[in-house]
Amino acid sequence: MSVTFNGKYLAPFINAHEYDALQPQVTALHKVLREGTGLGSDFRGWIELPEKYDREEFARIKAAAQKIKKDTQVFIVIGIGGSYLGSRAVIELMHSPFYNSLKKDTPDIYFVGNNINSGYLNEVLALCEGKDVSVNIISKSGTTTEPSIAFRVFRALLEKKYGKDGSKGRIYVTTDKAKGTLKKLATEEGYETFVVPDDIGGRYSVLSAVGLLPIAASGVDIDELMAGAKAAQDDLASDDIAKNDSYKYAVARNILARRGRDIEILVSYEPAFAMMNEWWKQLFGESEGKDNKGLYPASAIFSTDLHSLGQFIQQGSRTMFETVVHFGQAKTSLTIDKLDEDIDGLNFLAGKTLDYVNDRAFEGTVLAHTDGNVPNVVLEVPKIDAHEIGYLIYFFWNACAMSGYLVGINPFDQPGVESYKKNMFALLGKPGYESEKAVLEARLGR
Ligand code: PA5
Repeated sequence: MSVTFNGKYLAPFINAHEYDALQPQVTALHKVLREGTGLGSDFRGWIELPEKYDREEFARIKAAAQKIKKDTQVFIVIGIGGSYLGSRAVIELMHSPFYNSLKKDTPDIYFVGNNINSGYLNEVLALCEGKDVSVNIISKSGTTTEPSIAFRVFRALLEKKYGKDGSKGRIYVTTDKAKGTLKKLATEEGYETFVVPDDIGGRYSVLSAVGLLPIAASGVDIDELMAGAKAAQDDLASDDIAKNDSYKYAVARNILARRGRDIEILVSYEPAFAMMNEWWKQLFGESEGKDNKGLYPASAIFSTDLHSLGQFIQQGSRTMFETVVHFGQAKTSLTIDKLDEDIDGLNFLAGKTLDYVNDRAFEGTVLAHTDGNVPNVVLEVPKIDAHEIGYLIYFFWNACAMSGYLVGINPFDQPGVESYKKNMFALLGKPGYESEKAVLEARLGR
């Protein structure tokens, strides 16, 4: 197994028999998940995706990525939530948070349509000046407000720059295979389209065209990404907690939550993991937070946040546990020099790499935080490459589905997301929301 559950630091917090006690439930829920008899069973396409993905579309994604690499300096990726977080997370982890500033033969990539902010969009528009631009609009529904507004703006930019016909070969649409306004527009205009599969929800979509086109355009080997996910699909097919570390992780979080540890902090000592944290927060938060239940997913990057959140984690209210994603090997290495005059007192570290120091920070922190009564789960990931990241993504998907079923909710829907949208549309005067508008205006005292 690539990604493994290291329970060494959890031992003082969870007894072995507590895992055993949940095995019958896990066995039953595994059957429910695999046989599609549970809540949200229409959205289990991710289970066999690494094996059964559409090869013809995959080849078109690679061809489109090659074209984008050749004719594009700035690639604009429009999407929000599940239509955005995964690709950004993989690109930043695999390359760097400074991806756009690197010397490279791939385009700069900017993610827009994930907020409603003039300043943000104006800044990205300014970055496109004098550059060759292509756009990937990603929206399953095709009607989400944030990406729709951004697409309107960037389509106009492309049409102004390249003319209506010239812009067509620079717009890639990832949406539903048959329905929605975006699909209709793409068909009318002749844009190249890719499909958000019917049976895969946004937060489970990074290894579909949703994530794969931007990821491939950045130069990541998507064959390896899928091969890693396939290895996870094979490794994590058992209902036995002792043989399935993603289920062991799901069970550990469930046991801790039952003890009132209902905040989970996903921690990494790798700064490039920050957007993976965000992807994971959507995956678990949107999947589990229902019916007044679920763990609240938080995140931190150490050692950075040890100098801010560290105090709270060590000594604040005891409501959380940590899950550390620990990489066995750093991407690159930097060694600390010896100075003739040890003016900064750091010669005791001379000859050591930064990663050696980072690992001692990890070990010291796990011991300190567990001493401070914060349970620590450690997920061991051998290294940062496309194969391991594909594996890790599947590991979290599988854990999340089991976690959701253990909590007794539907891990594949997100009904709560609609509430703010309804209010916003009413307040904006969208046709059809007139009666809601009057009620909301009154509540706002207008
Ligand atoms: O996970 C989800 O379903 C959401 O985060 C959606 O992906 C997000 O709201 C964007 O929706 P759409 O792809 O329809 O624009």
